[in-house]
Amino acid sequence: MDYKKEFDTNRETWNKKVAIHAASDFYNLENFKSGDDSLKSYEIKAMGDVNGKRMLHLQCHFGQDTLSWARRGAKCTGIDISDEAIQLARSLNRELGLDAEFVCCNVLDVSDNISETFDIVFTSYGVIGWLPELKPWAKMISERLKPGGIFYLVEFHPIAWMFDYQQHPPKMIYGYQQKEAIYEEYEGTYADEENSAIISKEYGWNHGLGEVVTALTQAGLTVEFLREHDESPYDVFPGLEKTDNGMFAREDRLFPLVFELKAKKSG
Ligand SMILES: C[S@@+](CC[C@H](N)C(=O)[O-])C[C@H]1O[C@@H](n2cnc3c(N)ncnc32)[C@H](O)[C@@H]1O
Repeated sequence: MDYKKEFDTNRETWNKKVAIHAASDFYNLENFKSGDDSLKSYEIKAMGDVNGKRMLHLQCHFGQDTLSWARRGAKCTGIDISDEAIQLARSLNRELGLDAEFVCCNVLDVSDNISETFDIVFTSYGVIGWLPELKPWAKMISERLKPGGIFYLVEFHPIAWMFDYQQHPPKMIYGYQQKEAIYEEYEGTYADEENSAIISKEYGWNHGLGEVVTALTQAGLTVEFLREHDESPYDVFPGLEKTDNGMFAREDRLFPLVFELKAKKSG
């Protein structure tokens, strides 16, 4: 199936988000430039020492996490569908004197644009929901990993995407693993909800945990762990409360908000 209309719409929206995000408290670019690390405790703990590793960062937005890994000594390549995001990422890389590279392409087309293989493929928070199918995504990840290489994903939990957040209180209306795209139009972005300068128009797809694991194992990866957490490092869902350790959680903690998966390509 051809998803050109959906990808073009999403690219246009992400292009508009870049300047708004770069000016937002959420991304706090000035503090980042002064040395703040944008990485969160889940990925820092899971990845350990990345010094000297070749890392491919999928859907890197305007590069804060890519450049945070670069500051930790990884040799990084970030990719994103948004040309505005990649342009800002490159300019931050230059300004900060780092050695990351950035490529603008659809995550499903990475192997047409990059032939290098990596020690680590990394992707995080708000990524797989932009993809209609996970099989080609998993195949590309396997192609881009060296034998023995690690894939790590930390992502919002599929249960959290079953809700329509335009309704107050949010209503559970979307299928856990529904095949049809979900189209939404709303004012603002997660990083600046009040910003009326942008109408976000987005196509998204829900993927259950079974689909994620099956796509990766069928592509030749072995899952090392799959963890589900009821605390999110980002305050992106309505009604979350700050926890003692600086994370965000539902008061009832009824379901997980985040999952992380680490897998290895056989060596
Ligand atoms: C929520 S952001 C990723 C979050 C990232 N961890 C951050 O906060 O910087 C999602 C990113 O996916 C990118 N994206 C969406 N669809 C894509 C696609 N098909 N191929 C590549 N990138 C895509 C968007 O441009 C955006 O930069």
